[in-house]
Amino acid sequence: MRVASTSRVPTTPRARAPRRSTRRASPPPPRAFAESDDGGRDFAGDIALADVRRGEKIGAGSFGDVFAGTLRGRTAVVLKEGSAFRGGARFVEAEGRIWRRARGWRGGATFLGVAGANAYLVFEDEGRDTLEGALGGGGLGGVFGGGRDGAAFAEALGCATEAQACKKVSRELLKCVKGLHDKKIIHRDVKPNNVLLTKNGLRLIDLGGAADLKTGQNYDEAETVFDPVYGPPERYLTGKFGGGGGAGEWNKNKPDLFDAFSVGMVILQVSVPAFRKKNGMKGVRGELKTWAYDCEAWRASLPERRQSDFAILDENDGAGWKLVCGLVANRSQRISVSKALSSSFCR
Ligand SMILES: Nc1ncnc2c1ncn2[C@@H]1O[C@H](COP(=O)(O)OP(=O)(O)OP(=O)(O)O)[C@@H](O)[C@H]1O
Ligand SMILES: [Mg+2]
Repeated sequence: MRVASTSRVPTTPRARAPRRSTRRASPPPPRAFAESDDGGRDFAGDIALADVRRGEKIGAGSFGDVFAGTLRGRTAVVLKEGSAFRGGARFVEAEGRIWRRARGWRGGATFLGVAGANAYLVFEDEGRDTLEGALGGGGLGGVFGGGRDGAAFAEALGCATEAQACKKVSRELLKCVKGLHDKKIIHRDVKPNNVLLTKNGLRLIDLGGAADLKTGQNYDEAETVFDPVYGPPERYLTGKFGGGGGAGEWNKNKPDLFDAFSVGMVILQVSVPAFRKKNGMKGVRGELKTWAYDCEAWRASLPERRQSDFAILDENDGAGWKLVCGLVANRSQRISVSKALSSSFCR
């Protein structure tokens, strides 16, 4: 069973007293689709409940279950249901709005629409493999929590070598995130179980915690969605967003740096075999915090015998290591997703 680790942390801008919870705060009550800024009810994705057939359960999220299914008896789909006990329809409605705004984004799962009265989010079935599964942290490979060996990891990513698989994850995940940022949306929950491995490459799922900085949907300076392992140390997005979200505000506040940190954590995890195991990043996160997110200082503190763990990142003059150091850093030192994409580790 997956344990929800993403927290939504309400606070006031002056007195930020982070409180960890396993639930996201309630999104605003459902509004009519006609109010949406991009076609509303006419959006081709809206689906009658009668057209959807629910099959076996394939996953569980903190806000409901995920099922395989079919659409109009033909198309294989994945259905994300909002749990009725937790006001699930509201979460489906809120996440559906963000998926609509993200339409045309090539780095995400293929969203087909909302079925019924916010009963399900409907996606094209692009397989069940997640990056977490490939790491061995979940699914069969991770039954004993041991993490995959290099050859199995490379194979899961469709690559000939382990190093190629790590570079593929870096390149593609950064591109996925960049594409979402180009739509003025920040994912805020980038982590291995939110990354789908499809035949067309990596695709992000789970926009339940995403902030739409163009419309202000799911964005409140006083609240955040933050994963204690993968989320950035600053925890909050800041800036006056919504109602158009000017480029000036974006450039001033650099909200894209939020996801940049999480991608850096994922790159570090996939590239260091010892960190692939289930919960392998928990200890790392604690150590990084101790070293104030200075990766060089953290690494220097590790015993000599652990230095060879970083071999993949150290190849080619340490291209991967430099990339990780740039991303996994305090906000003021962190490199942007665009800069990260120019790293030779992403080629
Ligand atoms: N489009 C999809 N295709 C295949 N599998 C999916 C899809 N969407 C979700 N899943 C599976 O269901 C799981 C839960 O989905 P998702 O992350 O969207 O839910 P969640 O409730 O927001 O979860 P959490 O907040 O705990 O991460 C995923 O980790 C994945 O295994
Ligand atoms: Mg998820």
